[in-house]
Amino acid sequence: MLKVAVLVSGGGSNLQAIIDAKQAGKNPNCDLCAVISSTEGAYALERAKKADIPTYVVPRKAYGTRDEYTDAIIEKLREVGAEIIVLAGFMYILSPKFCEIYENKVLNVHPSLIPSFCGDGFYGLHVHEAALSYGVKLTGATVHFVSEVCDGGPIIMQKSAPVLEGDTPEILQKRVMEQCEWIILPEALRLCCDGKVEVVDGKVIIKED
Ligand code: GAR
Repeated sequence: MLKVAVLVSGGGSNLQAIIDAKQAGKNPNCDLCAVISSTEGAYALERAKKADIPTYVVPRKAYGTRDEYTDAIIEKLREVGAEIIVLAGFMYILSPKFCEIYENKVLNVHPSLIPSFCGDGFYGLHVHEAALSYGVKLTGATVHFVSEVCDGGPIIMQKSAPVLEGDTPEILQKRVMEQCEWIILPEALRLCCDGKVEVVDGKVIIKED
């Protein structure tokens, strides 16, 4: 069993997908040991409580610099004994120190097919606005390991979804969540917990199940 901490900032639908997979017996080697929120009152905390997962709030507002906030998050992760960390709609970029300590141990879900529509400023609905404004016909989601480069770490899994006539950013976001994020995030986490994911020369290799 690996201890997994999930970092959240908002609604937590991706956290819910992880919880549902765990409860359905699809990730036996995952121990969901903590949900840590950057925001008081995030609905993700309610989802965690319902699933009997310990919750913590490390409020971004309470810390000045990015380094101070990163230290506070690292301290909490050490306290709960996290071995794998999932950023599931966590809206803050942490300092390089975090990436060094937890190299290839932090998974992030991003709502586009990286390297499109990613990097600084691309988060949440903005990503879907950018995809619509460019006019792409296909978009999707990516789960990757977190590195010092924003949205630039080794890619674990990707899944696509169509962009349809009349889509708004909200409609597209919902399709990408339902058809992509909620599927690949729990599956990528399972592969990590089962020890099936290896990084060689900056690229992910998935060992046969
Ligand atoms: C998700 O679409 C996630 O991919 C995105 O925020 C949303 C959070 O939803 N994350 C980013 O844009 C990070 N760059 P959730 O709280 O319901 O899981």
